[in-house]
Amino acid sequence: MIIDQATKLRDLTKIKRQTEKHLHPVRRIAVTSGKGGVGKSNFSLNLAICFQRLRQRALLVDADTNLANIDILLGIHPEYSLTDVVLGDRFIKDIILQGPEGLQIMPAGSGVVEFIGLDAVIQDRIQNGIADLESGSDAIIIDTGAGISEGVVEFAAGADEVIVLTTPEPTAITDAYAAIKVISSKNAAVKFHLVVNLAKNQKEAQEVARKIRLVVENYLSLNLNILGFLPYDQHVPKAVSMQQPFLLMNPRCPAALNVMMIARKLLKIPVPENSGSLLRNLFTRGGNIG
Ligand SMILES: Nc1ncnc2c1ncn2[C@@H]1O[C@H](COP(=O)(O)OP(=O)(O)OP(=O)(O)O)[C@@H](O)[C@H]1O
Ligand SMILES: [Mg+2]
Repeated sequence: MIIDQATKLRDLTKIKRQTEKHLHPVRRIAVTSGKGGVGKSNFSLNLAICFQRLRQRALLVDADTNLANIDILLGIHPEYSLTDVVLGDRFIKDIILQGPEGLQIMPAGSGVVEFIGLDAVIQDRIQNGIADLESGSDAIIIDTGAGISEGVVEFAAGADEVIVLTTPEPTAITDAYAAIKVISSKNAAVKFHLVVNLAKNQKEAQEVARKIRLVVENYLSLNLNILGFLPYDQHVPKAVSMQQPFLLMNPRCPAALNVMMIARKLLKIPVPENSGSLLRNLFTRGGNIG
């Protein structure tokens, strides 16, 4: 009953957040897609590293309950998961892994168990653990599974913002629209962003993004913030096979430059004036399709 876990987790977090909101606002950003395999996990991981580099403390949650693989992308082996918090005597802080550049990772994906009927002690343990993490983070980036199953939608609908990834393929576009439709029906307050991955070039990404934005505006009466695109970049599969984030392996590869630009756009940080003209050009032209 993944839906129950996600709802419960969201509710538990909400209670605490409401009391602490004014003290420390945390951005909860889910990364999702309709179609699978469009690049969510790679994007989430590298985006989270960009946040760290931009002095935003990020917590990356692996919420793909079917195929958790942030740990595989990093070549790390989580010893504990949320199951150990619920069934064992671990605390949330015990399951957090340290990723590159000070990034915190919560391997919630594997082996999550039913939260319904938890006793008060465990509820409190989870609630306090999450609140502690939130108070030590500026942003929580949630890598969800693909599709519009209830588990995925619940995780996405629990966030404040959702980044929908698509590729230029018609199937991915249609599925991205379906994901936005279902998530918005669960939580009308979610702010939607779009990233086009695996685009041939800026023009193709722009066309795809505008097409989706038009349909979302016309049929769902929602705004879609176009964040940018990532081209096909051979450095990405190379980094995957080396189990390293592409941003660390090749910080100047097109995918890395564009994901950094997307992070800046999300955080409303302008490209620094003193950056070289080539870098500036790449930042302003390369990933920007909005
Ligand atoms: N910009 C890119 N350029 C080249 N290859 C890419 C790019 N983005 C992702 N890939 C490749 O696409 C594959 C799928 O990526 P990833 O695992 O991040 O997708 P996903 O959406 O998380 O998949 P799933 O839906 O199964 O969770 C990987 O093998 C990765 O190397
Ligand atoms: Mg994934």
